[in-house]
Amino acid sequence: MYKPGMSPMISFLYITLVFCSVVQVTFSSDPNILTDYVLPPNMTVDANYFTYTGVRSIVNSTYPAKFTVIKASLHEFPGLLGQSVSYAILEFPVGSINPLHIHPRATELLFVIAGSLQVGFVDTNKTLYSQKLETGDMFVFPKGLVHFQYNSNTTEPALAVSAFGSASAGTQSIANSVFNSTIYEGILATSFKTTADIIEKIESGLKG
Ligand SMILES: *[C@@H]1O[C@H](CO)[C@@H](O)[C@H](O)[C@H]1NC(C)=O
Ligand SMILES: *[C@@H]1O[C@H](CO)[C@@H](O)[C@H](O)[C@H]1NC(C)=O
Ligand SMILES: *[C@@H]1O[C@H](CO)[C@@H](O)[C@H](O)[C@H]1NC(C)=O
Ligand SMILES: *[C@@H]1O[C@H](CO)[C@@H](O)[C@H](O)[C@H]1NC(C)=O
Ligand SMILES: *[C@@H]1O[C@H](CO)[C@@H](O)[C@H](O)[C@H]1NC(C)=O
Repeated sequence: MYKPGMSPMISFLYITLVFCSVVQVTFSSDPNILTDYVLPPNMTVDANYFTYTGVRSIVNSTYPAKFTVIKASLHEFPGLLGQSVSYAILEFPVGSINPLHIHPRATELLFVIAGSLQVGFVDTNKTLYSQKLETGDMFVFPKGLVHFQYNSNTTEPALAVSAFGSASAGTQSIANSVFNSTIYEGILATSFKTTADIIEKIESGLKG
């Protein structure tokens, strides 16, 4: 709170901070656009720009051999630019897992279309929220938190559709970004309170 006794410098900093935090709240999803839609330069708009057919491949197809994601995000579907939404189709053969990861720019709303899934996320207080989802169930993964999905069923594959509150939610794999990047082994060993040979063992599994 601004108080009359505050020095002008401190009160200026205070007002700037409050302003910044208000702006941050306002722009906590994709930036608002000032037009109905955003077109690439020199492109004439027709319905094709707003259409994406890249997921037809799953119709009448069989499940893949390992966990597979088909994305319909800004990269694959340019018409999403400025619209703050995207999809991913997740195919889980028996026993497969979508390993620990985060989406830095969006909340994920997962809908189980077929089969069942064990899902969970960990909040910033290390509390795990885990659930067994059946066909027809939904689960929300709050933005930026570590999460996973696992098909533990031994006979039935699972299919899910995830909606994201960003045209470009981004995915950061925990294992890959930590143990399959160029972070110094010493930093990793200290961070995980272990020795370099343990770190090397984990790394070799990913770099393999
Ligand atoms: C768009 O079209 C104009 C006129 O034809 C041309 O001068 C310009 O280079 C084009 N811009 C792009 C990005 O293609
Ligand atoms: C999927 O299979 C059904 C039934 O066999 C068929 O009628 C339909 O045309 C197929 N769809 C596609 C996209 O191949
Ligand atoms: C964090 O979790 C601990 C137990 O795991 C709980 O006692 C504590 O109240 C939690 N703090 C917050 C801020 O949720
Ligand atoms: C797998 O799914 C089927 C069909 O929903 C169910 O009948 C069966 O009990 C499940 N098996 C296991 C091991 O979860
Ligand atoms: C580790 O990184 C390399 C190089 O970027 C990549 O080819 C490989 O697929 C990654 N490993 C895993 C398990 O994703």
